[in-house]
Amino acid sequence: MQTNFLWGGAISAGQTEGNKNHVKSKLSNFDMLPMDERRLQPVYKDDDNNIFNTYNDDHHPSDLGIDFYHTYIQDIKLLHDLGINAFRFSISWTRLFPTGEEEIPNQDGMKFYRNIFKELEKYNMEPIVTLSHFEIPLNLITKYGSWSSRNVIDLFLHYADIVMTEFSKYVKYWIPFNELNMILHIPFIGGGLVFTRKDNVLQKEYQAAHYQLLANSLVIKHGYQINPTFKFGCMIAAGRTYPYSPNPEDVWAANLSDRKALLFSDVQVRGNYPSYFDNLCKQNNLNLDITDKDLKILRENTVDFVSFSYYSSACSAADGDNLKHTATNGFETVKNPYLTNEDGVWQVDPLGLRITLNQLYERYERPVFIVENGLGTTKDRVIDGQIHDTYRIKYLDQHFTEMKKAIEEDGIPLIGYLMWGIIDLVSVSQGKMSKRYGVVYVDLDDSENGTNKRIKKDSFFWFKNYLSLNGLGE
Ligand code: BG6
Repeated sequence: MQTNFLWGGAISAGQTEGNKNHVKSKLSNFDMLPMDERRLQPVYKDDDNNIFNTYNDDHHPSDLGIDFYHTYIQDIKLLHDLGINAFRFSISWTRLFPTGEEEIPNQDGMKFYRNIFKELEKYNMEPIVTLSHFEIPLNLITKYGSWSSRNVIDLFLHYADIVMTEFSKYVKYWIPFNELNMILHIPFIGGGLVFTRKDNVLQKEYQAAHYQLLANSLVIKHGYQINPTFKFGCMIAAGRTYPYSPNPEDVWAANLSDRKALLFSDVQVRGNYPSYFDNLCKQNNLNLDITDKDLKILRENTVDFVSFSYYSSACSAADGDNLKHTATNGFETVKNPYLTNEDGVWQVDPLGLRITLNQLYERYERPVFIVENGLGTTKDRVIDGQIHDTYRIKYLDQHFTEMKKAIEEDGIPLIGYLMWGIIDLVSVSQGKMSKRYGVVYVDLDDSENGTNKRIKKDSFFWFKNYLSLNGLGE
């Protein structure tokens, strides 16, 4: 592994920071999510045009998160003890601009993030900053309809401008949006979208996606003006889709499934919509506001590296109705008979990481960056103050082995590996603490009861040792 390889961990604001008091005027889409399966479902306005009547008074896990707002100093110190040299986190748009429309950012919020950068600097840890990790101020949803409105682009650019200018000296790697393809699967989380029963859902999703892609390019354009050494990455939830069988119909179904992710990286890396996009619009009666000027901006402002999350591969069949299905990141997939869920909530497929790295590098020939990977499981138990997570050690070991092969045997220029949820956090899909990813355990249960104490799991010591032998050295 080359010496400048970024070995790190990743978290997001909404899943960790807390310090919210549920004042509606200061909240984001993410803060509104309840703690059950409704989180992933599309949100519809009710007959009185209200958006959130259905889950107004629910418990909201992001109110506390893991209280990272107050614990970041000890948490970053723990990560330093682990031996990593990179840390991805997101800045909360809403913390800095509670309604999304203020001119001046909230100063406490700016101080909080500046302090994080200073802690990272102290330990020589490279920050990788996401500007929007499934987050948009609630006010912009109710007032403009979120990303379905072009107006939101300038408001996002103002936020991005302040952050990139203020923190320019600390940050090199920026990811403007987390997993842009998620807007097609979880549109409220991915883009703050709220539907009426009359809406053409796809029209709204693709329109919002276009405005996000445009905002992404404009952030890049402006970012280089602030600091020409900045590096920008796209971000898709990746994971190659396999055909269920060699039947050409299944192969084609798998291709179609992959398009739902690759369309988003195609635009961000190549600078244009793929060849089938016009037909996709025709077939679905989409009439999108995409101007020639927009297309020029997309073409001229592409990303420097291809960053992605990988949890598992997916599987598709032309006629999958009678096949078993299983959940994966953001959607359901046909269950792959060669993979198991015995260790994690989702299927585990280490070789799929190598396959996906090759898929993305062969397609784009730009440096790639694994910015999320990890095992989300409900198996962690504290026994005598310890967590013996052998399944997580196995997962990391197997994924690191495939990653090494991709670098050494396939010649893939990989910038780094960031383990997702390196400290336990609130799961996006479940809204619970009990689906855990970390090598650091957080003593909070699903009702947020507990001491909030951090405990190093066995995987922490394994990862630390791995890094000293294979990664960064002592
Ligand atoms: C990715 C997100 O989609 O998957 C993360 O970027 C998320 O925010 C991760 O936590 C794992 O998903 P989940 O539902 O297990 O939290």
